[in-house]
Amino acid sequence: MFFTTLSKASLALLVASMILVLTQKAEAHSYADCIDWRFKDPKNPSWSDKNGACFGYARRFPLKAKLFAKLDSDDPNRHYQQSHKNPDPDHSLACSDGKQGEEPGADETMGKPISAAYTGTDKRGRKVGPQTVSKPGGQLCVRWPAKNHAVPDEKNQPVTIALSEVNPTKDPTQLQFLSNIITNLNYKNCSDTKLNTDIWPCGGCFKLPTTLKPGNFVMQWRWKLNSNEWYTSCADIDVRAK
Ligand SMILES: *[C@@H]1O[C@H](CO)[C@@H](O)[C@H](O)[C@H]1NC(C)=O
Repeated sequence: MFFTTLSKASLALLVASMILVLTQKAEAHSYADCIDWRFKDPKNPSWSDKNGACFGYARRFPLKAKLFAKLDSDDPNRHYQQSHKNPDPDHSLACSDGKQGEEPGADETMGKPISAAYTGTDKRGRKVGPQTVSKPGGQLCVRWPAKNHAVPDEKNQPVTIALSEVNPTKDPTQLQFLSNIITNLNYKNCSDTKLNTDIWPCGGCFKLPTTLKPGNFVMQWRWKLNSNEWYTSCADIDVRAK
């Protein structure tokens, strides 16, 4: 009797810890948390909530749904992982439709009109973040959570930022984005690295091309974790004349 109870209890514990390990592994992936991060004090920049604020987001980004770094365990999650097949990630869907991929993400398809992805609420009734507004040559600072992958023993894989043509009527293919990468950012550029390595805030700053015409541009954030393992987030930038 005692042994049966014990083994049942330890079996339950084992299963519980396996589920924990598996789900943590499955969820520890990154995504663009903010497209237009502004530092409170540009002379003392940091990516933590207390030192800045976000002025523009990815499509249908639920504000205040979760703490920073925790939207990969949202329902649906934010870490869209592109398909490995078809024949490879460079040919797979560029922005999540919430259905395809190794790990389908949240719905990041283009809004109709584009602004519809930045107003009102998402499918679960949660208020979504505003669209990014900038200008030709404008600086953007993009933020993401480290998700344990910015520690020294992890390979540093870049984040690529790519743009569409002006005023596209549909999302570029992945190959089209790859032909217009405007910058590579250092994934491990994190600040406030004392706490839990999962929630280190990281990011990179860059300038939009000065030659952009006013209009909407789709911007893709893309991060490589393993050789064929890519995660993307998509946002629209409203570029206004200077
Ligand atoms: C790295 O992060 C800091 C903030 O901690 C930021 O000021 C800087 O621009 C970032 N570097 C690059 C190259 O993006």
